[in-house]
Order: sequence, then structure tokens, then C-alpha cells
Amino acid sequence: MKKAGLVIVILATVLGLLQFFGPEEPEYAPVNDLAGLPGEVNSIIRNSCFNCHSTQINLRWYDKLTPANYLVYDHVLKGRKALDFSKWDSLTPQAQNGILYYSLNKILEGEMPLASYNAVHPDAKLTDNAIQTLKNFLLTRTPRKSAESAQISNVNQQFSNFISGKMALSKQAVQPSPNGIEYIPDYRKWKAVSISDRFDNGTMRIIYANDVAVKAIKERKINPWPDGAILAKAAWKEQANADGSISTGQFWQVEFMIRDSRKYASTKGWGWARWRGSDLKPYGGTAAFITECTSCHKPMKDNDYVFTKPLYLMGHLPNNNKK
Ligand code: HEC
Ligand code: HEC
Repeated sequence: MKKAGLVIVILATVLGLLQFFGPEEPEYAPVNDLAGLPGEVNSIIRNSCFNCHSTQINLRWYDKLTPANYLVYDHVLKGRKALDFSKWDSLTPQAQNGILYYSLNKILEGEMPLASYNAVHPDAKLTDNAIQTLKNFLLTRTPRKSAESAQISNVNQQFSNFISGKMALSKQAVQPSPNGIEYIPDYRKWKAVSISDRFDNGTMRIIYANDVAVKAIKERKINPWPDGAILAKAAWKEQANADGSISTGQFWQVEFMIRDSRKYASTKGWGWARWRGSDLKPYGGTAAFITECTSCHKPMKDNDYVFTKPLYLMGHLPNNNKK
């Protein structure tokens, strides 16, 4: 009994002394409500995300104790660096929509708020109601109007040209990207490994992988991806049909990431290229356009700069799962 008492006294003393040490508290500045968002959306984000994604931090006393504060402040600084809602007003409406959409995905995947944070701040975890509120709000930012029949037949023609390969008969017919990368017409025949529906900006995408990349996916050797792997992403404008269904509309663009760790060492080991519109115009005035690609893909640096998590379908399961 006595011994236990002594241990507690020593522990308390050590913890007490520790409070003279510790990291500097992150900068604090109040943040206005995010313009353009309804009150209920503002309060969800303020309540669950501001501590790590804005300068308006409201930490509990126990967050500030050494040694917990080392971890907490590190989350605050890293989180703020990745996404800072204090800078909301300086963003274009498209960028704001993109952030909200990306945030919703992080929430749905259970990645945000961080699990370790939810454990000690249970009220920060989003309720199903709160998630539905965010979804409903995002849908109002991009209302869907049904298309005219002329537009529908135009788009159908375009899609059949895409399928048949008429859209780009050969790579000679399409100018190379300003960084010298040549168009790869065959991507349409590759395996589709994922799809995404960006309802925030009204586009639908298919992510394709060439044989080398598909093999790497099967073997789960995709971090890093092997040389020779190519990922393509084709995007269409969404088209709302009179019956309420959504289908692909105008062809928007196709992008490639081509793995060659030596040739493309200066651009994160990937060759980047994009062609816009159904006439496949190379994107970017000069080779400097690549910085646009790499800076937006940079948050995925620990995932070899790739966003897509390939869908593992039955036929894709690696052998060791067959038992
Ligand atoms: C305890 C701190 C913490 C809380 C609370 C938190 N986040 Fe994060 N968040 C982080 C950290 C740290 C990162 C950076 C992760 C990394 O660098 O890998 C991050 C990254 C993100 C990213 C990715 C940004 C990028 O460019 O990669 C999004 C989006 C995001 N958070 C959204 C949210 C939303 C929405 C909420 C509230 C529902 C939230 N987070 C709550 C700490 C937090
Ligand atoms: C505004 C941010 C942003 C910019 C700029 C950007 N990308 Fe992406 N890219 C994404 C996101 C997010 C995905 C994930 C798929 C999706 O949601 O469409 C993606 C996916 C891809 C993919 C499929 C593989 C993967 O990482 O998932 C390719 C290929 C690709 N991008 C190429 C490019 C090229 C080439 C450029 C530059 C011309 C570029 N991207 C610029 C955000 C961006």
C-alpha cells in the first residue's frame, strides 16, 4: 500500500516537472464562418476539423500536458499544413468544392477526424446525420439539370467514337505533350481498375492500368509501382438524363502517369501528360505544366503519388489468398 502511494507521488512529481518542458503551442487566430456554407455545415467543420485544420484551435487542458502535447501539436501542425480552413476566402469556388468533396471522402473512409483524436474527443466524430447534411449540401453546390436530346445524341456519337477508337485513330494524329510524351491510344483496351464520380464538379472518371500495372496490382506491389506501369485516367462531364439516371457526357480529358524511375527521376519517377477534349489537344503551354500535376498529387507522396486504391475484384485476388 505504502509502496503504491510512493510510486504515485513520484509519478505525479515527474509529470509536474515535465510541464516546464514541452513544445511551443501552435499559433492561434480566430476564423470566421466559412463563406457560402450554411450554418449547420459550418458548425460540423468547426466542431470536428478546426482543431487540426485551422488557426482557431480550442484544445482541452489534457491536450496541453507534456508529453501528450508533443503528439497533439504535431497533428495540429501537420493537419494545418495539409488543409487550412483559415485560408478559405482565398480559394476559388471550384477549389472549395474540391476540398469539401475530398473531406467527405476522408470522413466516409473513417480517416478523418484521426481515430486517435476521436478516442479522446468523442464529440468530434461525425454522426450519420452530420454526414448526410454534408452530402446533401454538396449536391446543392452542383445541381443536375437534364440534358437536351441534341446534346445526348452528340454525346452518344462521341462515346461510340471513343469505344471504336475513331476518336484518335493513331498517335500520329495527336500532338505529343509539351514534355515530349506521346499519346497512347490503346489505353481504352486496358483494364479499368477504379472509377470515381466527382459530383462536386460534375465529372465521372475511369482509371485504367496497363498490363505491367495490373500485374503489380495482383501481386500487391504498388508502392512503389514497377517501371513500365502506366495509369490512365479518362474523364467525362456528367450528363443527367430525363429519367434521373446519370451517364457520361462530353469527353473531358485523358491523363497518364508513366512509371520510369530513371527517365522521370526529376518528376517523382512518373511521366505526366494530359490531352483535353474530344480533339485531344495536348495540355500545357510548356513542360512546366507538370508542376500542376505533381503539386496536387503531392499529398499522396507516401503512396507513390497515386490517389487510386485499385478495386480488388475476384479475378484480381493474389494467389496467396486462394487457400
Ligand atoms: C487530430 C487532428 C485532426 C483532426 C481533428 C482532423 N484532421 Fe484531417 N488531417 C490531420 C492530419 C495530421 C492530416 C495530414 C495527414 C498526412 O499528412 O498524411 C490530415 C489530412 C486531412 C486531409 C487531406 C489533406 C491532403 O491534402 O492530403 C483532409 C481532406 C482532411 N484531413 C479533412 C479533415 C476533416 C474534414 C476533418 C473533420 C471532419 C478533419 N480532417 C479532422 C489531422 C486531423
Ligand atoms: C486538382 C488536383 C489534381 C491535379 C492538378 C492533377 N490531379 Fe491527377 N488526380 C487527382 C485526384 C484527386 C485523382 C484521383 C482520382 C479521381 O478522383 O479522379 C487523380 C488521379 C490521377 C490519375 C490516376 C492515378 C491516381 O493517382 O489515382 C492520373 C493518371 C492522373 N491523376 C494524372 C494527372 C496528370 C497528368 C496531371 C497534370 C496534367 C494531374 N493528374 C493533375 C488530382 C489532381
